[in-house]
Amino acid sequence: MHHPSRRMLAATAAAVLATGVGLVAANEANAAAGCRVVYTVNQWSTGFTGDIALTNLGDPISNGWRLEWNFAGNQRVTQGWSGTFAQSGQHVTVTNPSWSASLPTNQSVSLGFNADYSGTNATPAQFTLNGTVCTGSTTPGPSPSDPGPSPSDPGPSAPPPPGNKVDNPYASAQGYRNPEWQAKANGEPGGSRVANNPTAVWLDRIAAIEGTDDSSSNGSMGVRDHLDEALRQGAGYIQFVIYNLPGRDCSALASNGELGVNDLPRYKSEYIDPIARIMADSKYANLRIINIVEIDSLPNLVTNTNVATCATMKANGGYVQGIGYALQKLGALPNGYNYVDAAHHGWIGWDSNFGPSAQQMLAAAQASGSVNNVTGFITNTANYSALTEPNFTINTSVNGTSVRQSKWLDWNQYVDELTFAQAFRNQLVSVGFSSTIGMLIDTSRNGWGGSARPTGPSTATNVDTFVNQSKIDRRIHAGNWCNQSGAGLGERPRANPATGIDAYVWVKPPGESDGSSTLIPNDEGKGFDRMCDPTYTGNERNGNNPTGALSGAPISGAWFSAQFRELMANAYPPLS
Ligand code: GLC
Repeated sequence: MHHPSRRMLAATAAAVLATGVGLVAANEANAAAGCRVVYTVNQWSTGFTGDIALTNLGDPISNGWRLEWNFAGNQRVTQGWSGTFAQSGQHVTVTNPSWSASLPTNQSVSLGFNADYSGTNATPAQFTLNGTVCTGSTTPGPSPSDPGPSPSDPGPSAPPPPGNKVDNPYASAQGYRNPEWQAKANGEPGGSRVANNPTAVWLDRIAAIEGTDDSSSNGSMGVRDHLDEALRQGAGYIQFVIYNLPGRDCSALASNGELGVNDLPRYKSEYIDPIARIMADSKYANLRIINIVEIDSLPNLVTNTNVATCATMKANGGYVQGIGYALQKLGALPNGYNYVDAAHHGWIGWDSNFGPSAQQMLAAAQASGSVNNVTGFITNTANYSALTEPNFTINTSVNGTSVRQSKWLDWNQYVDELTFAQAFRNQLVSVGFSSTIGMLIDTSRNGWGGSARPTGPSTATNVDTFVNQSKIDRRIHAGNWCNQSGAGLGERPRANPATGIDAYVWVKPPGESDGSSTLIPNDEGKGFDRMCDPTYTGNERNGNNPTGALSGAPISGAWFSAQFRELMANAYPPLS
């Protein structure tokens, strides 16, 4: 996105068609994306009025649009119209007005703004619409049979030169397919129908950096093996999960790790440093390296300090300092993109913890030295919250009673992940994160299809009955998180699916267990959490409800064939 300006405009009312500087994006299989921007200015010595005519040349956009560019100089928007303008440094983002979220094919919108500047007033080199560079033409996306780019022909996946971070590393790029996960998926009946989806590589212990011989849990390839394989695949991006904090998984037991509560020095020197050193190898400079940073940790500091280990990690600064260090080291990579974990709507969707969570994340980012070490945030990692509840919204009332008063929502402000992620993004920007941040949503297991999926809103007049019969999320309680019975694969990974969302991703590799359903001794530090036991009757964090967990589960991270088969059967959108 940070192409230098190639052109300067001398005086008034010049028009330029932004063309040819970048690559045309193909956001989704079979989708065409493309756009045209005509940018004109009317300028005087210290200010100007900019007019933009934006045309969508690709498939119809129904979920909101986002136009972005970088100014080359000190231009600063003072007022904008026909869109919501936000500027951070030289980066400008205009999002659709709330009343006009759609942009059909070949339709144009006009927007304008007033701005200050001094010196020269160059035309921005490039505009993007929902992450796609506006070149004035379209390119169709890959067809399902398209094997994707080969290493010798990087094609539309070719990332920009090093040192030139893009706004959305998922846009116009093919994701890395982890061969170890692919092999497990392909080993299941019909698994080849999903095995080509990109999934994240979890670095869940120091030994995972070099790779291990023990493939019982997470496989044997190390960081370098995965990066080399990504080059071989001609992938545009690869996703790792940084997951080894001291005192890890402080509010639960199933994913406790190898580092004790006081092991911050080891986290830095034996875990983050070696990972950063490998990723910095210039041989990988053209690969976008996406690091998903420390699942569940910061939210635990907000809501779960009544649990002793969480209180310890809050008091000793291990989580905040560890994450700050990771963000700083990995953010310094010219091709590194950090996404910090931001729980899910059923965790921090209440007023009492929504704002404080954003503040906690700000503190961790500031510990890295700059909020700009954060590309964005991810919600729903390894969780099951529905992406969109189709049969009601937070504003639905039943017989005069708001759905917020149902037992299921219990005064939550959100009914699903998409509305939560978009709102939390705004909150993060309002506390000080860059307006260019984008959200990811882990859709690996939140599909909720199959025969138990409600086909429309209930006609019940009791609010609890209405919500329970209407919701597609079939969990017993939104606080249930372990190997959920009835779940299905969710949206397949894709870039720019909705306003403010960089991508739907599969970070939790489907088929890998969340925790064992009975105690299984192991040498990974993993405990037995009764939330994974189908016979347990719950704790205060799930309202003392049954856990809804599948029986027969192995330890977290290990392959759970029965779960994978159920996820496939209940996929939504259904598998083709
Ligand atoms: C859990 C496990 C971890 C595994 C990950 C992905 O968090 O604790 O070991 O890598 O899930 O399956």
